Amino acid sequence: MSFAPVNSSLVGRVLSSDLHTKNGILLLPQETVITATHVQILQNQRIFEVEVMDILSEGTGEQISSQLAELGSDADSVAVYVNALDKTREMFEQISDRGTPCLDEFSTIFCDVAGQAMKQKGLFRSLYLLEGADSYTYRHSLNVGILCSLIASLLKWDPERVSFMGTAGFLHDLGKMKVPKEILLKPGKLSDEEFKIMRMHTVYGYEMIKQMEGGTEELALCALLHHERLDGSGYPEQRKGDEIPVECQILAVADMFDAICSDRVYKDRTSPFEAAQFLWKEACDGSLNIEIVAQFVRYIALLYVGAKARLCTGEEVEVILINQDEPMRPLVRRSGEFLDLRHERKLTIEKMIG
Ligand SMILES: [Fe+2]
Repeated sequence: MSFAPVNSSLVGRVLSSDLHTKNGILLLPQETVITATHVQILQNQRIFEVEVMDILSEGTGEQISSQLAELGSDADSVAVYVNALDKTREMFEQISDRGTPCLDEFSTIFCDVAGQAMKQKGLFRSLYLLEGADSYTYRHSLNVGILCSLIASLLKWDPERVSFMGTAGFLHDLGKMKVPKEILLKPGKLSDEEFKIMRMHTVYGYEMIKQMEGGTEELALCALLHHERLDGSGYPEQRKGDEIPVECQILAVADMFDAICSDRVYKDRTSPFEAAQFLWKEACDGSLNIEIVAQFVRYIALLYVGAKARLCTGEEVEVILINQDEPMRPLVRRSGEFLDLRHERKLTIEKMIG
Protein backbone atom coordinates (compact mmCIF):
# COMPACT_ATOMS: atom_id res chain seq x y z
CA MET A 1 0.00 0.00 0.00
CA SER A 2 1.11 3.56 -0.60
CA PHE A 3 -0.23 7.12 -0.65
CA ALA A 4 -1.00 8.75 -3.98
CA PRO A 5 -1.89 12.38 -4.75
CA VAL A 6 -5.44 13.13 -5.91
CA ASN A 7 -5.02 14.14 -9.56
CA SER A 8 -5.52 12.57 -12.98
CA SER A 9 -2.75 10.01 -12.33
CA LEU A 10 -5.04 8.42 -9.72
CA VAL A 11 -7.52 7.19 -12.35
CA GLY A 12 -7.44 3.39 -12.50
CA ARG A 13 -5.76 2.93 -9.10
CA VAL A 14 -7.58 0.94 -6.40
CA LEU A 15 -8.35 2.20 -2.89
CA SER A 16 -6.73 0.03 -0.22
CA SER A 17 -9.13 1.14 2.54
CA ASP A 18 -12.52 2.82 3.00
CA LEU A 19 -12.42 6.54 2.41
CA HIS A 20 -14.47 8.83 4.68
CA THR A 21 -15.31 12.52 4.60
CA LYS A 22 -14.10 14.72 7.44
CA ASN A 23 -17.51 14.12 9.07
CA GLY A 24 -16.99 10.36 9.00
CA ILE A 25 -19.42 9.59 6.14
CA LEU A 26 -18.28 6.79 3.88
CA LEU A 27 -17.31 8.37 0.56
CA LEU A 28 -15.79 5.45 -1.34
CA PRO A 29 -15.39 1.87 -0.12
CA GLN A 30 -12.19 -0.15 -0.14
CA GLU A 31 -11.29 -1.65 -3.56
CA THR A 32 -12.99 1.14 -5.50
CA VAL A 33 -11.31 1.59 -8.88
CA ILE A 34 -10.88 5.36 -9.14
CA THR A 35 -12.47 7.13 -12.10
CA ALA A 36 -12.11 10.76 -13.28
CA THR A 37 -15.44 11.55 -11.53
CA HIS A 38 -14.09 10.16 -8.24
CA VAL A 39 -11.05 12.45 -8.58
CA GLN A 40 -13.39 15.40 -8.97
CA ILE A 41 -15.41 14.37 -5.88
CA LEU A 42 -12.25 13.94 -3.80
CA GLN A 43 -10.93 17.33 -4.88
CA ASN A 44 -14.29 18.93 -3.99
CA GLN A 45 -14.02 17.33 -0.57
CA ARG A 46 -10.51 18.80 -0.30
CA ILE A 47 -8.93 15.37 0.03
CA PHE A 48 -5.45 15.63 -1.42
CA GLU A 49 -3.99 12.18 -0.80
CA VAL A 50 -5.45 8.65 -0.61
CA GLU A 51 -4.14 5.22 0.27
CA VAL A 52 -4.02 2.93 -2.76
CA MET A 53 -2.91 -0.59 -3.54
CA ASP A 54 0.56 -0.90 -5.02
CA ILE A 55 0.78 -1.33 -8.76
CA LEU A 56 1.58 -4.91 -9.60
CA SER A 57 4.32 -5.84 -11.97
CA GLU A 58 4.37 -8.08 -15.03
CA GLY A 59 7.92 -9.16 -14.17
CA THR A 60 11.07 -8.55 -16.15
CA GLY A 61 11.15 -11.56 -18.45
CA GLU A 62 14.41 -12.80 -16.91
CA GLN A 63 12.83 -16.07 -15.79
CA ILE A 64 11.66 -16.67 -19.33
CA SER A 65 15.03 -16.17 -20.98
CA SER A 66 16.79 -18.55 -18.59
CA GLN A 67 14.09 -21.21 -19.01
CA LEU A 68 14.14 -20.95 -22.80
CA ALA A 69 17.91 -21.32 -22.82
CA GLU A 70 17.68 -24.42 -20.59
CA LEU A 71 15.04 -25.99 -22.81
CA GLY A 72 17.55 -26.16 -25.61
CA SER A 73 15.74 -24.08 -28.20
CA ASP A 74 18.57 -22.98 -30.41
CA ALA A 75 20.45 -19.91 -29.23
CA ASP A 76 19.38 -17.68 -32.12
CA SER A 77 15.69 -18.34 -31.51
CA VAL A 78 16.02 -17.67 -27.79
CA ALA A 79 17.82 -14.40 -28.49
CA VAL A 80 15.20 -13.26 -31.00
CA TYR A 81 12.26 -14.14 -28.72
CA VAL A 82 13.78 -12.58 -25.59
CA ASN A 83 14.77 -9.46 -27.49
CA ALA A 84 11.24 -9.12 -28.90
CA LEU A 85 9.80 -9.66 -25.41
CA ASP A 86 11.97 -6.86 -23.99
CA LYS A 87 10.99 -4.48 -26.76
CA THR A 88 7.31 -5.40 -26.47
CA ARG A 89 7.36 -4.65 -22.75
CA GLU A 90 9.13 -1.35 -23.33
CA MET A 91 6.77 -0.27 -26.09
CA PHE A 92 3.52 -1.36 -24.42
CA GLU A 93 4.52 0.26 -21.13
CA GLN A 94 5.36 3.62 -22.65
CA ILE A 95 1.83 3.95 -24.05
CA SER A 96 0.43 5.50 -20.87
CA ASP A 97 3.15 8.20 -20.80
CA ARG A 98 3.99 8.86 -24.41
CA GLY A 99 0.93 7.65 -26.32
CA THR A 100 0.65 4.82 -28.81
CA PRO A 101 3.64 4.37 -31.15
CA CYS A 102 3.03 4.05 -34.91
CA LEU A 103 2.20 0.74 -36.54
CA ASP A 104 5.63 0.40 -38.17
CA GLU A 105 7.32 0.34 -34.78
CA PHE A 106 5.15 -2.58 -33.64
CA SER A 107 5.58 -4.41 -36.94
CA THR A 108 9.38 -4.15 -36.76
CA ILE A 109 9.43 -5.88 -33.37
CA PHE A 110 7.05 -8.59 -34.42
CA CYS A 111 8.47 -9.46 -37.87
CA ASP A 112 11.75 -10.88 -36.54
CA VAL A 113 10.14 -13.16 -34.01
CA ALA A 114 7.45 -14.37 -36.42
CA GLY A 115 10.09 -15.20 -39.06
CA GLN A 116 12.16 -17.10 -36.49
CA ALA A 117 9.18 -19.06 -35.14
CA MET A 118 8.17 -20.16 -38.65
CA LYS A 119 11.76 -21.24 -39.41
CA GLN A 120 12.53 -22.85 -36.08
CA LYS A 121 9.67 -25.05 -34.88
CA GLY A 122 11.59 -25.92 -31.69
CA LEU A 123 10.98 -22.41 -30.40
CA PHE A 124 7.26 -22.80 -30.79
CA ARG A 125 7.28 -26.12 -28.96
CA SER A 126 9.31 -24.65 -26.10
CA LEU A 127 6.92 -21.74 -25.58
CA TYR A 128 4.46 -24.07 -23.91
CA LEU A 129 6.99 -25.68 -21.61
CA LEU A 130 7.70 -22.43 -19.80
CA GLU A 131 6.73 -22.07 -16.15
CA GLY A 132 5.51 -18.98 -14.32
CA ALA A 133 3.45 -15.91 -15.10
CA ASP A 134 6.44 -13.66 -15.82
CA SER A 135 5.56 -10.99 -18.43
CA TYR A 136 2.29 -12.74 -19.25
CA THR A 137 0.58 -9.96 -21.24
CA TYR A 138 3.62 -9.36 -23.43
CA ARG A 139 4.30 -13.06 -24.04
CA HIS A 140 0.62 -13.57 -24.81
CA SER A 141 0.76 -10.79 -27.42
CA LEU A 142 3.84 -12.27 -29.10
CA ASN A 143 2.51 -15.83 -28.93
CA VAL A 144 -0.92 -14.96 -30.31
CA GLY A 145 0.75 -13.06 -33.15
CA ILE A 146 2.88 -16.13 -33.95
CA LEU A 147 -0.15 -18.45 -33.76
CA CYS A 148 -2.24 -16.19 -36.00
CA SER A 149 0.45 -16.16 -38.71
CA LEU A 150 0.72 -19.92 -38.36
CA ILE A 151 -3.04 -20.44 -38.81
CA ALA A 152 -3.16 -18.07 -41.79
CA SER A 153 -0.36 -20.03 -43.47
CA LEU A 154 -2.11 -23.35 -42.69
CA LEU A 155 -5.14 -21.89 -44.48
CA LYS A 156 -2.80 -21.08 -47.40
CA TRP A 157 -3.41 -17.34 -47.28
CA ASP A 158 -1.02 -15.17 -49.28
CA PRO A 159 2.08 -13.74 -47.52
CA GLU A 160 0.55 -10.29 -47.15
CA ARG A 161 -2.49 -11.69 -45.30
CA VAL A 162 -0.26 -13.94 -43.19
CA SER A 163 1.71 -10.90 -42.14
CA PHE A 164 -1.50 -8.94 -41.45
CA MET A 165 -2.72 -11.74 -39.18
CA GLY A 166 0.58 -11.71 -37.29
CA THR A 167 0.26 -8.00 -36.59
CA ALA A 168 -3.43 -8.37 -35.69
CA GLY A 169 -2.53 -11.09 -33.18
CA PHE A 170 0.35 -9.08 -31.74
CA LEU A 171 -1.88 -6.03 -31.17
CA HIS A 172 -5.17 -7.76 -30.25
CA ASP A 173 -4.83 -7.04 -26.52
CA LEU A 174 -3.24 -3.59 -26.83
CA GLY A 175 -6.30 -2.14 -25.06
CA LYS A 176 -5.22 -3.96 -21.88
CA MET A 177 -2.65 -1.22 -21.40
CA LYS A 178 -5.60 1.01 -20.45
CA VAL A 179 -6.98 -1.48 -17.90
CA PRO A 180 -5.85 -0.78 -14.32
CA LYS A 181 -2.94 -3.07 -13.38
CA GLU A 182 -4.75 -4.14 -10.21
CA ILE A 183 -7.38 -5.75 -12.40
CA LEU A 184 -5.12 -6.89 -15.24
CA LEU A 185 -2.71 -8.68 -12.90
CA LYS A 186 -5.13 -9.64 -10.13
CA PRO A 187 -4.09 -13.04 -8.81
CA GLY A 188 -7.62 -14.40 -8.49
CA LYS A 189 -11.10 -14.36 -9.90
CA LEU A 190 -12.38 -10.99 -11.08
CA SER A 191 -15.57 -9.57 -9.57
CA ASP A 192 -18.44 -8.74 -11.95
CA GLU A 193 -17.48 -5.07 -11.84
CA GLU A 194 -13.80 -5.82 -12.51
CA PHE A 195 -14.71 -8.16 -15.36
CA LYS A 196 -16.80 -5.41 -16.90
CA ILE A 197 -13.75 -3.12 -16.85
CA MET A 198 -11.52 -5.89 -18.22
CA ARG A 199 -13.90 -6.47 -21.15
CA MET A 200 -13.44 -2.84 -22.13
CA HIS A 201 -9.95 -3.72 -23.43
CA THR A 202 -11.58 -4.66 -26.74
CA VAL A 203 -13.06 -1.18 -27.19
CA TYR A 204 -9.90 0.55 -25.93
CA GLY A 205 -7.82 -1.52 -28.37
CA TYR A 206 -10.10 -0.54 -31.27
CA GLU A 207 -9.79 3.15 -30.41
CA MET A 208 -6.01 2.98 -29.93
CA ILE A 209 -5.42 1.26 -33.27
CA LYS A 210 -7.79 3.65 -35.08
CA GLN A 211 -5.81 6.59 -33.72
CA MET A 212 -2.43 4.98 -34.37
CA GLU A 213 -0.36 6.25 -37.30
CA GLY A 214 -0.67 3.51 -39.95
CA GLY A 215 -3.54 1.76 -38.12
CA THR A 216 -6.49 0.61 -40.25
CA GLU A 217 -10.17 -0.08 -39.56
CA GLU A 218 -9.60 -3.76 -40.37
CA LEU A 219 -6.79 -4.06 -37.83
CA ALA A 220 -8.78 -2.15 -35.23
CA LEU A 221 -11.75 -4.49 -35.75
CA CYS A 222 -9.53 -7.46 -34.90
CA ALA A 223 -8.91 -5.93 -31.46
CA LEU A 224 -12.60 -5.10 -31.05
CA LEU A 225 -14.01 -8.48 -32.04
CA HIS A 226 -11.50 -11.11 -30.85
CA HIS A 227 -13.77 -12.15 -27.97
CA GLU A 228 -16.85 -12.58 -30.16
CA ARG A 229 -18.07 -16.16 -30.57
CA LEU A 230 -19.95 -17.68 -33.52
CA ASP A 231 -22.97 -18.58 -31.36
CA GLY A 232 -23.33 -14.99 -30.14
CA SER A 233 -22.00 -15.71 -26.63
CA GLY A 234 -19.01 -13.35 -26.91
CA TYR A 235 -18.48 -9.63 -26.38
CA PRO A 236 -18.59 -6.63 -26.84
CA GLU A 237 -21.26 -6.73 -29.59
CA GLN A 238 -22.58 -10.33 -29.32
CA ARG A 239 -22.09 -10.77 -33.07
CA LYS A 240 -23.00 -14.13 -34.59
CA GLY A 241 -21.63 -16.33 -37.40
CA ASP A 242 -20.60 -14.42 -40.54
CA GLU A 243 -21.05 -11.09 -38.77
CA ILE A 244 -17.63 -11.90 -37.28
CA PRO A 245 -14.84 -11.42 -39.88
CA VAL A 246 -12.85 -14.61 -40.45
CA GLU A 247 -9.69 -12.80 -39.25
CA CYS A 248 -11.34 -12.38 -35.85
CA GLN A 249 -12.42 -16.04 -35.86
CA ILE A 250 -8.74 -17.00 -36.29
CA LEU A 251 -7.78 -14.63 -33.51
CA ALA A 252 -10.34 -16.19 -31.18
CA VAL A 253 -8.77 -19.63 -31.70
CA ALA A 254 -5.19 -18.41 -31.22
CA ASP A 255 -6.10 -16.30 -28.18
CA MET A 256 -7.97 -19.08 -26.43
CA PHE A 257 -5.24 -21.64 -27.13
CA ASP A 258 -2.45 -19.46 -25.73
CA ALA A 259 -4.48 -18.44 -22.69
CA ILE A 260 -5.27 -22.05 -21.80
CA CYS A 261 -1.69 -23.25 -22.32
CA SER A 262 0.03 -20.45 -20.46
CA ASP A 263 0.77 -20.49 -16.80
CA ARG A 264 -1.40 -17.84 -15.17
CA VAL A 265 -1.14 -16.50 -11.67
CA TYR A 266 -4.32 -18.27 -10.64
CA LYS A 267 -4.21 -21.57 -12.45
CA ASP A 268 -1.75 -24.23 -13.48
CA ARG A 269 -0.57 -24.45 -17.01
CA THR A 270 -2.45 -26.88 -19.23
CA SER A 271 -0.85 -29.01 -21.94
CA PRO A 272 -1.36 -28.13 -25.63
CA PHE A 273 -3.23 -31.46 -25.98
CA GLU A 274 -5.73 -30.51 -23.29
CA ALA A 275 -6.04 -27.02 -24.79
CA ALA A 276 -6.65 -28.58 -28.22
CA GLN A 277 -9.32 -30.82 -26.70
CA PHE A 278 -10.98 -27.76 -25.20
CA LEU A 279 -10.90 -25.86 -28.52
CA TRP A 280 -12.37 -28.89 -30.26
CA LYS A 281 -15.24 -29.00 -27.77
CA GLU A 282 -15.87 -25.28 -28.23
CA ALA A 283 -15.92 -25.77 -32.01
CA CYS A 284 -18.36 -28.70 -31.72
CA ASP A 285 -20.57 -26.60 -29.43
CA GLY A 286 -20.64 -23.93 -32.14
CA SER A 287 -18.64 -21.10 -30.58
CA LEU A 288 -15.40 -21.45 -32.64
CA ASN A 289 -14.89 -22.04 -36.38
CA ILE A 290 -14.54 -25.82 -36.71
CA GLU A 291 -12.45 -25.77 -39.91
CA ILE A 292 -9.89 -23.44 -38.38
CA VAL A 293 -9.76 -25.47 -35.16
CA ALA A 294 -9.40 -28.79 -37.04
CA GLN A 295 -6.39 -27.63 -39.08
CA PHE A 296 -4.77 -25.91 -36.14
CA VAL A 297 -5.20 -28.79 -33.70
CA ARG A 298 -3.74 -31.33 -36.13
CA TYR A 299 -0.70 -29.14 -36.75
CA ILE A 300 -0.08 -28.47 -33.07
CA ALA A 301 -0.36 -32.15 -32.15
CA LEU A 302 2.18 -33.12 -34.84
CA LEU A 303 4.68 -30.64 -33.41
CA TYR A 304 4.80 -32.65 -30.20
CA VAL A 305 5.66 -36.06 -31.66
CA GLY A 306 8.65 -37.28 -29.67
CA ALA A 307 7.96 -34.94 -26.75
CA LYS A 308 7.75 -36.09 -23.15
CA ALA A 309 4.54 -35.49 -21.25
CA ARG A 310 2.95 -36.21 -17.90
CA LEU A 311 -0.43 -37.92 -17.71
CA CYS A 312 -3.10 -36.99 -15.17
CA THR A 313 -2.01 -40.10 -13.23
CA GLY A 314 1.44 -38.56 -12.78
CA GLU A 315 3.10 -41.09 -15.11
CA GLU A 316 5.63 -39.95 -17.72
CA VAL A 317 5.00 -40.85 -21.34
CA GLU A 318 6.40 -40.09 -24.78
CA VAL A 319 4.14 -38.93 -27.61
CA ILE A 320 4.63 -41.48 -30.40
CA LEU A 321 1.96 -41.04 -33.05
CA ILE A 322 -0.79 -38.55 -33.77
CA ASN A 323 -4.13 -40.13 -34.66
CA GLN A 324 -5.65 -38.42 -37.71
CA ASP A 325 -9.23 -38.73 -36.46
CA GLU A 326 -8.49 -37.46 -32.94
CA PRO A 327 -5.16 -35.63 -32.92
CA MET A 328 -5.48 -34.51 -29.31
CA ARG A 329 -5.55 -38.14 -28.09
CA PRO A 330 -2.28 -39.58 -29.49
CA LEU A 331 -0.57 -42.94 -29.14
CA VAL A 332 1.96 -42.68 -26.30
CA ARG A 333 4.66 -44.93 -24.83
CA ARG A 334 4.61 -45.59 -21.09
CA SER A 335 7.76 -47.41 -19.95
CA GLY A 336 7.84 -49.96 -22.74
CA GLU A 337 4.10 -50.34 -23.44
CA PHE A 338 1.99 -48.39 -25.91
CA LEU A 339 -1.24 -46.69 -24.95
CA ASP A 340 -3.73 -45.36 -27.45
CA LEU A 341 -5.37 -42.43 -25.67
CA ARG A 342 -8.38 -42.68 -28.00
CA HIS A 343 -9.28 -45.84 -26.07
CA GLU A 344 -8.05 -44.71 -22.65
CA ARG A 345 -10.65 -41.98 -22.22
CA LYS A 346 -9.90 -41.39 -18.55
CA LEU A 347 -6.27 -40.50 -19.25
CA THR A 348 -5.36 -36.96 -20.26
CA ILE A 349 -2.02 -35.33 -21.06
CA GLU A 350 -1.72 -32.86 -18.23
CA LYS A 351 1.63 -31.28 -18.89
CA MET A 352 4.41 -31.28 -21.46
CA ILE A 353 7.78 -31.77 -19.78
CA GLY A 354 10.35 -31.84 -22.54
FE1 LIG B 1 -8.39 -10.16 -25.18
